[in-house]
Amino acid sequence: MTCAAYVFDAYGTLFDVHAAVRRHAGRAGPDGQALSDIWRAKQLEYTWVRSLMGAYADFEVLTAEALDYAFDRIPSVDRSLRADLLAAYRTLDCFPEVPAALRALKQRGVKIAILSNGTPSMLSAVVGHSGLDTLIDDIFSVDGLGIYKTAPAAYELVTKAYGLWPSEVSFQSSNRWDVAGAVRFGFRAAWINRQQAPNEYHDLSPHITLPSLDGLINH
Ligand code: LAC
Repeated sequence: MTCAAYVFDAYGTLFDVHAAVRRHAGRAGPDGQALSDIWRAKQLEYTWVRSLMGAYADFEVLTAEALDYAFDRIPSVDRSLRADLLAAYRTLDCFPEVPAALRALKQRGVKIAILSNGTPSMLSAVVGHSGLDTLIDDIFSVDGLGIYKTAPAAYELVTKAYGLWPSEVSFQSSNRWDVAGAVRFGFRAAWINRQQAPNEYHDLSPHITLPSLDGLINH
C-alpha cells in the first residue's frame, strides 16, 4: 500500500546515534559503547520527563546534558572528548541502506519528510552531511512546539502541514516508543527493528516490522 507521505524519525532510524562515539572509538577506549548507550538513554529520558513537567529545553541542550551525565557514570572515558562527540552528533552517518530506500520512494512521487525531536539546526546539519537533502522534502522539528514525541501535537505537525489524514501517512521509526505514539495518533507505522529488540506497547502495534529500511517500498 502506498501512502501519500513517508515520514521518518531521524536519530536511530536514518542516522546511527552510536556513530559519534564509534568515530572516536580509539580515544574512548573499551567503555565507549557503555558511554554511548547511557548517553542515548538519558537524552530520551530527559525529553519525556521535561515534556511531562512542561519544562522544555531544546534537544541540543538535552543531548549535551545527557553526555555530561554519561561521563559522570563512566569516568574511564576521557572527558576531553566532549566537544568532539557533540560535533560528531551533527555529522552522524546514515545507515547504509537509507539513500537507496529514500530514492525508491522518491521515484513513486510520494512526499518524504523527517519528524524529529532534534532542533532545526541539528537536523539540517546531519541531513546535509549525509547528502540526503536532495531526497527529503521537509524536515519537521518539535522545537517550535516546546514538547517532545510522543505528544500527539508532534505527529500532528505532519498532518497539518500536508493536509492529510493520519491514516494517509506512513511513519517509520526504529524507536518502539515512537512507533507507539505514531500508532496512537493514527499513522500507519513501520517499526524498523534494527536491534532485534523484543516487542512492547502491545496495544499500540506497528502495521509492519522490518529489520531495516530495505524492502519498505514493498509494504
Ligand atoms: C528523533 C529521536 C527521538 O529523531 O530519535 O526524534
